Amino acid sequence: MEIEEIKNVLKNKLSEKRFFHSICVMEMCEKLAQHYNVDIEEARFIGLAHDIAKEMPSDEKLKYAKDNNIPVNTVEMASPTLLHAKIGADICKKEFGFSDKMCKAISLHTTGGENMNMLSKILFIADGIGLDRNYEDVDYIRDLAFKDLDASILYMLNLTIKECLEKNSQIHLDTILARNYLLKK
Ligand SMILES: [Fe+2]
Ligand SMILES: [Fe+2]
Repeated sequence: MEIEEIKNVLKNKLSEKRFFHSICVMEMCEKLAQHYNVDIEEARFIGLAHDIAKEMPSDEKLKYAKDNNIPVNTVEMASPTLLHAKIGADICKKEFGFSDKMCKAISLHTTGGENMNMLSKILFIADGIGLDRNYEDVDYIRDLAFKDLDASILYMLNLTIKECLEKNSQIHLDTILARNYLLKK
């Protein structure tokens, strides 16, 4: 599968804004992979495809998960949008033949997780610091990601958790596990 073929698939599944986001994440993944000596091609592929399932309607997400034996926990049941990560990983495996390592990174890109490998870490942070992103702390985190990758992920996890507290919404267990793991290191 070539990058251009995946771009064509994505153009049919995503809005213009989300497609642009995907390109920005791909470019950030490439920069980080180069910086940290990680496979650039793999990083580009997962950056581009990570949100392939993002715009699937919630009822379809739940149906896809059921039909494809993807376990859905109570937090995901309350916010099915979270499932786009696991579903995206499943689609990329079945439709594009991505490796297990690449699919693992896609499945953890929203929540984070315990023991993330370099590819997972790069995608997780690239998703939040691509050039399409524009929020208060983004310049700081973008800079930090190239100096101390784990610290940048911890910062992002804290932002996510703060947002959950503000909205009084559930916190995904993988987010807590990811944070605890980084704090222990
Ligand atoms: Fe996403
Ligand atoms: Fe994304």
